[in-house]
Amino acid sequence: MKQMHLAGFMIASQVIHSHAVWRHPQTEFGFLDAEFYQKIAQVLERGKFDLLFFADVLSLPDRYSGHFEPSVKYGAQGAIMLDALVVATAIAVATKHIGIGITRSTTYFQPYDLARSFATLDHLSRGRVAWNVVTSGKDSEAQNFGLDQHLDHELRYERADEFIQVAAKLWDSWQDDALILDKETGIFADPEKVDYVHHAGDWFKVRGPLTVPRSPQGRPVIIQAGSSTQGREFAAKWAEVIFEISPLPELMKAYYQDVKSRMARYGRDPNTCKILPAIMPFVGETEAIAQEKQALHNELVHPLTGLLMFSNSSGVDLSDYDLDAPLEKVEVQGSRGQFNMIQKLSQEQGLTLRDIGKAYGQSVLVPQIAGTPAQIADYLEDLFRQEAGDGFIISPAYLPGSFEDFVDGVVPELQQRGLFRRDYPGTTLRETLILN
Ligand SMILES: Cc1cc2nc3c(=O)[nH]c(=O)nc-3n(C[C@H](O)[C@H](O)[C@H](O)COP(=O)(O)O)c2cc1C
Repeated sequence: MKQMHLAGFMIASQVIHSHAVWRHPQTEFGFLDAEFYQKIAQVLERGKFDLLFFADVLSLPDRYSGHFEPSVKYGAQGAIMLDALVVATAIAVATKHIGIGITRSTTYFQPYDLARSFATLDHLSRGRVAWNVVTSGKDSEAQNFGLDQHLDHELRYERADEFIQVAAKLWDSWQDDALILDKETGIFADPEKVDYVHHAGDWFKVRGPLTVPRSPQGRPVIIQAGSSTQGREFAAKWAEVIFEISPLPELMKAYYQDVKSRMARYGRDPNTCKILPAIMPFVGETEAIAQEKQALHNELVHPLTGLLMFSNSSGVDLSDYDLDAPLEKVEVQGSRGQFNMIQKLSQEQGLTLRDIGKAYGQSVLVPQIAGTPAQIADYLEDLFRQEAGDGFIISPAYLPGSFEDFVDGVVPELQQRGLFRRDYPGTTLRETLILN
């Protein structure tokens, strides 16, 4: 029987999609400590999760009111983001099986340094690394890297495409058996099995070879998450794992069908890319207890944190609008689709901007589900059977407790139903994801 894949959603930060994480009474305060991230990874490894994933953005959110002041004051997503690649090293030494996914932008890094970092980490973790390829989209990020504005959408994807190709050439610049390590003869490696790259394209000029020998996986597992048509094409061409956020099952199913059918055009078997919709679970011994947990969590979210995030994704400075009135018609430069959907909801349900901020800050549109382990397993099983996803990425509401509740309650339910593995099938992340 086909089984699910499971991932944990993290940011090396005080919050993830839930803006209550850091102030939740059950959260252990440790987002600046290596042990905090190690413990989270160990919990998920106990639950046989495929991987722990870290999102990353390269600037503080400051679209709302034109300043970072409210983001910093209320600890919105993005106010703090440690470098996940460094955090991943700490996780690699404290775990043995779980994969580690790290976000790195193709717009603001160079293929050589990125290929080198990921090959290094693939060695140190013995083959458990994944790279979430993002193109970045904010002027505030561009302004931290010597530019005034971010690159045009189309150009960002052109650069990303060439970037991956150069990185792949670098990862292939050492053949599998290039290292000889013969102490007797003093021959360290076979130079015949190492090659220059000599890449010269529109965006990059790279000579190679890499200074890191070929790593256990050869190259990291490629993750992508793009919602635009171009983003979906890019994912269909390259991605081996896709995370997506859809508030409704119908949207998850539509996304799944769309990307899987695009893959055929690149001659790819749809099973070689695992699509994982995000879910925020609240697990309780009874449904009532789970709902209480959800309500307690949601009450802790400050409305401004959600409005900040919404301003950032839509590009609209919502600080100009009345907090206690419904959302008016406004011009949007950013993500139009999401803005329209929220505006419609606001009008239909009579929600004020304050209500929208609070709701958005609770999970940034990741669907919440509260119930007993069996009820949550039912919900996930139903989505899985309807082909809404090849598994799920779990976004926590408090740390590490949300993951502990899921691992101790829901994972055994899924295992009993034959829907999830009882152990890791091999040693590398590629083997865990059944990609080869
Ligand atoms: C679940 C999910 C996670 C994402 N994580 C990141 C991230 O960590 N960093 C980032 O810069 N963009 C992230 N993105 C944004 C996308 O990767 C992509 O760059 C963005 O959606 C713009 O591309 P598009 O216009 O093709 O959608 C994420 C998107 C989704 C749906």
